[in-house]
Amino acid sequence: MGNGQKSKAMLVLGIETSCDETGVALYDSARGLLGHTLFSQVDIHSSYGGVVPELASRDHIRKIMPLIEEIMTKTGVKPTDIQGIAYTAGPGLIGALMVGAVVGRTLGWAWQIPTVRVHHLEGHLMAPLLEDSRPDFPFLALLVSGGHTLLVEVKGLGNYRILGETIDDAVGEAFDKTAKLLGLGYPGGAVLSQLAEQGRPNYFQFPRPMLDRPGLDFSFSGLKTCALRTIEQQGAEMNDQLRADIALAFQTAVVETLIAKCRRALKEVNLSRLIVAGGVGANSALRTGLKTMAEKEKIMIYFPRLEFCTDNGAMIAYAGCQRLLAGQRDDLAIQVRARWGCCTCKKLT
Ligand code: KG4
Ligand code: ZN
Repeated sequence: MGNGQKSKAMLVLGIETSCDETGVALYDSARGLLGHTLFSQVDIHSSYGGVVPELASRDHIRKIMPLIEEIMTKTGVKPTDIQGIAYTAGPGLIGALMVGAVVGRTLGWAWQIPTVRVHHLEGHLMAPLLEDSRPDFPFLALLVSGGHTLLVEVKGLGNYRILGETIDDAVGEAFDKTAKLLGLGYPGGAVLSQLAEQGRPNYFQFPRPMLDRPGLDFSFSGLKTCALRTIEQQGAEMNDQLRADIALAFQTAVVETLIAKCRRALKEVNLSRLIVAGGVGANSALRTGLKTMAEKEKIMIYFPRLEFCTDNGAMIAYAGCQRLLAGQRDDLAIQVRARWGCCTCKKLT
């Protein structure tokens, strides 16, 4: 990959169904992103306090074809214009992944065009490349989502080295669990961050996990426990102000820890470009803190637009298009993987 050979332009349909968002997009390697659309199932799952896999699969089935039709109508793209299809093949919920894979492969067969499976995390890592101001390789990626917390050295498409990972909860998961403890519903990451704006700085002090040790791994489950203990200590005195103070203490601890580890990783691998990807990349305290660090350390920093931090079809269309241009094609089997690569083997794809 990334061999610099000239390839002809390609228009690719991207499909994302790994969890609770049905996303589709059309990306053209010559003209850029033509359009994208998304349906979020958040209202379907919120009353259960988490994503219900069977409900997710069923809703992907309901929404996927109407969304593909919608994006084609909006952009005026006809089936004969599309030259390839990319779909998320993992990691994620197996039934949900299967919907995107089967639809992608079926359309590929019907339209007689190649298809390619895309790793969900590769999609997130490539999301900043959808923007006009885009980083050159190599760069450091901070990937912070509901399922993953990773520091990755990205040397090119498909050329990744995991430098650090969480040893317990992912950062988005810790946000969501703490939000639940504060009675903010699910998924509560963004709501917690809004509440933190009303918090009094340093009213509560939470620890900065694993900063006193060398290395680039993270741990966030202790912060959630710390929030639980603080909530319990308030007892009947608990009120909205104290809830906001706890939200701020939690968020500040997370953000400072992430920033410190980014700074450490940039120095260790001697990189001068940083990208931030994944749902927690939408957090404004994290964005502001990272920008300040980048300015001080003379680092170039890149963020995807907010809608491309969370799951979307555009990042899959982009990553798939690069893979198709590099000559990758699916074999005959329709293969999806709930787990794909793992942090302990330091591989993503
Ligand atoms: O990348 P994503 O859409 O899905 C996964 O692949 O996991 O990330 C979703 C996660 C959720 O945990 C959500 O609470 C969190 O990102 N999130 C935020 C914010 N917006 C989304 N966490 C903190 N602050 C935000 N503004
Ligand atoms: Zn994701």
